[in-house]
Amino acid sequence: MNKSDENSKLPIIIDCDPGQDDALMLFLALNAPELDVLGVVACGGNVPLARTELNCRILVEMAGRVDVPVFAGCEGPMVEQLFTAEYLHGETGIDGIDFFEPSLPKNEKHGVDFIIETLRSAENEEITLVPTGPLTNIAMAMRKAPEIIPKIKQIVLMGGACFEGGNVTPSAEFNIYVDPHAADVVMRCGRPIVMFGLDVTHQVMTDPKIVADIRALGNKVAHASAGMLDFFGQYDAAKYSEQGGPLHDPCTIAWLLEPEMFVLKHCHVTIETSSKLTRGHTAVDFWGVTGNQPNVAWAHKVDRARFFALLTQRLAQY
Ligand code: RIB
Ligand code: CA
Repeated sequence: MNKSDENSKLPIIIDCDPGQDDALMLFLALNAPELDVLGVVACGGNVPLARTELNCRILVEMAGRVDVPVFAGCEGPMVEQLFTAEYLHGETGIDGIDFFEPSLPKNEKHGVDFIIETLRSAENEEITLVPTGPLTNIAMAMRKAPEIIPKIKQIVLMGGACFEGGNVTPSAEFNIYVDPHAADVVMRCGRPIVMFGLDVTHQVMTDPKIVADIRALGNKVAHASAGMLDFFGQYDAAKYSEQGGPLHDPCTIAWLLEPEMFVLKHCHVTIETSSKLTRGHTAVDFWGVTGNQPNVAWAHKVDRARFFALLTQRLAQY
């Protein structure tokens, strides 16, 4: 479902809201020989769009991939007001990195139009979408140009929670909470969805040894990664009484590269869009009690050692 054939790369579009964990996801994707990153689209999420778009250009340049175009997508959710997470990611969104003004220029084309135009010119079931922030840009593209939906091979996203509970309210995970209406559009789109929620991302908490091993790799991407992980781990470590933070977003790319390290279960997932108390809740029918046809492959287990081995091995290649 996710492996390109031996002699071709898997074409993907990334949509993200860096975010230190989005940054590690980008680093994992941008030097992967298995993947052809057609473009990176920023969305408002962890921090406002102006910062997430700038952060995407910084990270793409740091990865040595100024050939990959970066676009600004939507400022905020389809219906709700934007809710951001500077409390966790810092004012810049990627606190912990040594800043520089990127040479990569801002792209005037809107990120939603980039997604539409790229999919319009693709074959059916050709392009993998990898969203790791609120799903606003993906949903807006589907709404503006529904004819692109058959061009989507699969949507490999970070979001939601089942047994783990929420991280922004007791009921909801951040990406889905910020734009529940967009998540509802995506869940109903009919294309294959692989979903990495907190149930699996909380199994890949960093720790001081992992960060030290990454720092010891000695290249500038690894150095930046270690700095961001040091910052990112502080808040969640205290919140979850752990030694580090959960590496949510890299799970998406790790699955594309080594799917065997994850265990998935086909489930029906619906999104709460109207309740004030449970806005953004992902009702994951893990035990099949609704009888509804599954619309998601829900990741619920991961081989932690293999995940961090992959991450460290790929960061070493910068
Ligand atoms: O809940 C975790 C998700 O919200 C991650 O994608 C993180 O980057 C934030 O966007
Ligand atoms: Ca994110």
